[in-house]
Amino acid sequence: MTVMAVRHFLDIDALDTQTLKSLIASARALKNETPGAQSTMLPSTSVLALMFDKPSTRTRVSFDVAMRQLGGQTIVLNSGETQLGRGETIADTARVLSRYIDAIMLRTDAHSKITELAEYASVPVINGLTDYSHPCQVMADILTYEEHRGSIAGRNVVWVGDGNNMVTSWMHAAVRFGFSLRIACPKELSPDPAVLAWVKKEGGETLVTQDPGEAAAGGDLVMTDVWVSMGDKNAAERRKLLAPYQVDQKLMKCAEKDAIFMHCLPAHRGDEVTADVIDGPQSVVFDEAENRLHAQKAILAWCLGLK
Ligand code: CP
Ligand code: NVA
Repeated sequence: MTVMAVRHFLDIDALDTQTLKSLIASARALKNETPGAQSTMLPSTSVLALMFDKPSTRTRVSFDVAMRQLGGQTIVLNSGETQLGRGETIADTARVLSRYIDAIMLRTDAHSKITELAEYASVPVINGLTDYSHPCQVMADILTYEEHRGSIAGRNVVWVGDGNNMVTSWMHAAVRFGFSLRIACPKELSPDPAVLAWVKKEGGETLVTQDPGEAAAGGDLVMTDVWVSMGDKNAAERRKLLAPYQVDQKLMKCAEKDAIFMHCLPAHRGDEVTADVIDGPQSVVFDEAENRLHAQKAILAWCLGLK
């Protein structure tokens, strides 16, 4: 008998292109079904734990609804509600939860916490954002781009602003989905150099510049994110560094005429993006938010061995 390895969803670079593309296809198929048709995909005894060390609106609600629509149940564990806050180890927590729970989603700060959880858990662990990456969001973003404009392969994807956790997952995706990633950021807030080196080694295409206009030229998709991510210190310094990186109409005009705008949300209008862009005709941010639900259903189905 072959024993299937536990299917964690920790980062986009950990999976091969075929698996990732089939997750996007599965998300699209699930989106086209009525949720009622999915209500027996999982046994009603199947439980997902949602663990949060940081705040969340979209991740919390979309994972909870996804699991319920697939027929399962959820338990939400906020920071401070478990013995982790009193010094119980991640390894022990992983082994204990694995005796009750079918899968664990964790949003936390240090990425090492999620890799440790996955190392000791005997059930799938899903990355719901760390300081390093946000892979579920980028899967939803790719689903969204492809719904609006077709295959993302060969396209120019533009990132303007902080070289943060979202950028790590976009760099991973650039290699696996085969598009060019053009990043404009202040040099003090550059993307993770180890991930940039990995993209280069894998033959991926990335431009890193301090000129937003250069990055946006020829862009098919333009994105930004908050200037101060959860857990970031020195907000005033970041705001000063990032002020020249606001996405406004003038910058959108540097991109292709039919370029779309995305933002993982929450957004701060007047900081990283102007209201006329995020609320304008090129913006697809609410489709993007909705697609968290569909992408994560596909991820849950894959992790739980349904696909
Ligand atoms: N985009 C995203 O992850 O949103 P939340 O922080 O609300 O979960
Ligand atoms: N970069 C942001 C993303 C929020 C979904 C943060 O980490 O706060």
